[in-house]
Amino acid sequence: MLTTTLANTLATAGQRTKDEAIMPLSSPSHPRPPSPILEYLVATIRNPATGTKDFRESLEKIGEYLALDIASGLGTKEETITTCLGAIATHGIPAEDPVLVTILRAGIPLLSGMQRIYPQAAVGFIGAMRDETTLKADISYIALPPLEGKQVILMDTMIATGGSIVDTIALLEKKHPKKIIVAGAIASTAGIEHIQKHYPGTQVYAAATDPIVNEKGYIVPGLGDAGDRAYGTKD
Ligand code: PRP
Ligand code: URA
Repeated sequence: MLTTTLANTLATAGQRTKDEAIMPLSSPSHPRPPSPILEYLVATIRNPATGTKDFRESLEKIGEYLALDIASGLGTKEETITTCLGAIATHGIPAEDPVLVTILRAGIPLLSGMQRIYPQAAVGFIGAMRDETTLKADISYIALPPLEGKQVILMDTMIATGGSIVDTIALLEKKHPKKIIVAGAIASTAGIEHIQKHYPGTQVYAAATDPIVNEKGYIVPGLGDAGDRAYGTKD
């Protein structure tokens, strides 16, 4: 549910992005109603008092929410059912499963949530760690299923500078997916702009968008270090 928030943020910032980037799931002309449940989940992950278990569980629920939102734009096929009453009901069900790709570590809980919506989906993993000085991501692990002709949801809990996502899209593109959609729990406006600059028209879904990336690469107001909040500090 990017969405209204992102549309508003972009409008406020005087930024213009391709319509496709925020369409068709939300746009100024088709705003989505705010979801108090999603807001509650984002408030929970932002709260420093939230422990690792609740932090992960809230992120998982955000992942479910984002997957449901994204599903509306992935295409449907018609399913016709004859019910117990001998009557016919027709539904537009997902035409195909997307491939889910997550960036380690912080993207894991988001993936778990998306897997509840797409339990059969193939999953890819990217191991990326940002250099604390340059803020450039070092990609050290790549495990991807076939992507040719597939719709891919690429997720990371935090989209800060957007560098990890842009570098990962470059890797994914080599495997010729049909479409790559980006999802995050919190995305900065600068991160979204960075993605748009390199891959114009990319749809970016975020549960919240924040205005600032500070000099240490943290999103503000943000939530701190998502990997540490989910799994504990590293040595
Ligand atoms: C964090 C976060 C993202 C990345 C986002 O990873 O999980 O992957 O930074 O930053 P960017 O948009 O500026 O590239 P980190 O390097 O802290 O690793 P971790 O997830 O293992 O904690
Ligand atoms: N990664 C995090 O975990 N938090 C941020 O605020 C930015 C990048």
